[in-house]
Amino acid sequence: MGKLAINRGNPVRDIKAKPWSTWPVTGEEERRNLLEVFESGKWWYGEKVKEFEEEFASFQDAEYGVSCTNGTAALEIGLLSLGIGAGDEVIVPPYTFIATASSVLRVNAIPIFADISLETGNLDPVDVEKKITEQTKAIIPVHFAGLPCDMDALKEIAKKYNLKIIEDACHSWGSKWNGKGTGALGDCGAFSFQMSKNITSGEGGILLTDDEEIAERARSYSNCGRGEEGHWYEHFLLGGNLRMTELQAAILLGQLTRLEKQTAKREERAKYLDENLKNIPGIKTIPRDKRVTRRSYHLYMFRFIEEEWGMKREKFVEAVCREGVPISIGYPVPLYQNPLFQEKGIGPEYCPVSCPYYGKEVNYSEVYCPNTEKLCQQAVWIAHPVLLAEKEDMQDIVSAIEKVWENREEIK
Ligand SMILES: Cc1ncc(COP(=O)(O)O)c(C=O)c1O
Repeated sequence: MGKLAINRGNPVRDIKAKPWSTWPVTGEEERRNLLEVFESGKWWYGEKVKEFEEEFASFQDAEYGVSCTNGTAALEIGLLSLGIGAGDEVIVPPYTFIATASSVLRVNAIPIFADISLETGNLDPVDVEKKITEQTKAIIPVHFAGLPCDMDALKEIAKKYNLKIIEDACHSWGSKWNGKGTGALGDCGAFSFQMSKNITSGEGGILLTDDEEIAERARSYSNCGRGEEGHWYEHFLLGGNLRMTELQAAILLGQLTRLEKQTAKREERAKYLDENLKNIPGIKTIPRDKRVTRRSYHLYMFRFIEEEWGMKREKFVEAVCREGVPISIGYPVPLYQNPLFQEKGIGPEYCPVSCPYYGKEVNYSEVYCPNTEKLCQQAVWIAHPVLLAEKEDMQDIVSAIEKVWENREEIK
């Protein structure tokens, strides 16, 4: 028997006695709104959806909000509204969820992977510029885990090469860059309200923009191609039925009342972790740019350096979990290593990658983004609900990691 819980020692935290916060957090606001919608019998796109669109757009400092079924749809609507399509290249990071790249393929455009910065997990503007060709039409920066990308550098590149920016803000509700909300920094920005997200209605999404024309097109794409003026059965664009329901909006309006306070609390807890984890050898916390004026923490991430610990990251994660602290490894491989890109899916012999209108060949098995590969091996994630616990609970996280470090000899 050793000291570590993985070797039958006592854990730092007994999670039966002291469970971590659960998600979602709900209250009277959701209950009241839901009941109101339920009893009204108007469950379909109406007042609550409009109210949420306005409130959320204003919360992120954007002029217009077009709600939809999920974040994936919001990305697709964004691309379509900007006129991105067949034969166009769109630069995306490989350290993200599949939707960032699959939305590009869905509109028949080609995702081109640019590497991230190892320190932040966000797109590296220098590598973005290297990946630009005559066919590049847009960039999709992902504000990974809620940390805004270097939007000054990306916007400068976009201006220089006449590119559009669709922000993947699916982790960054409440985040601000130089005082302005993410999702309102590029041409448009997509958000997700899926179950694991910091504001949720189970599923849901929204596209934000400051541009009235983009908003109008987005509305049409999300509403069967209808126009603002036309007849109900008059269809102008090749849209889909991607509308949010009143029931979803009722929940989201309730969730939104808590988001600001929760964001502040998570920031405070993350600061505590940053200050206390950074002194542990082989733990690299994520630096924060001064231009990040508010940060949502969808995840708290740090890097684990196996060489310094003399231990595999997976063993470390298992040992810390057994101490009663829930951590995980995150994305196991860069997006481009998924079978979708490597062989069976779109592969080099499938459309839109191989279709004549592209006029080129892209072979994803040759893509190599070293920083992304490294981050996939080093990252450790803590999910956002944990950050809603109290300061003493954050000390449990620090103590568990310190304990594993001090007793690392016990782990083979
Ligand atoms: C970075 C990122 N982009 C897009 C999405 C897609 O959002 P949804 O699941 O609502 O379609 C997600 C969802 O996890 C995400 O994490």
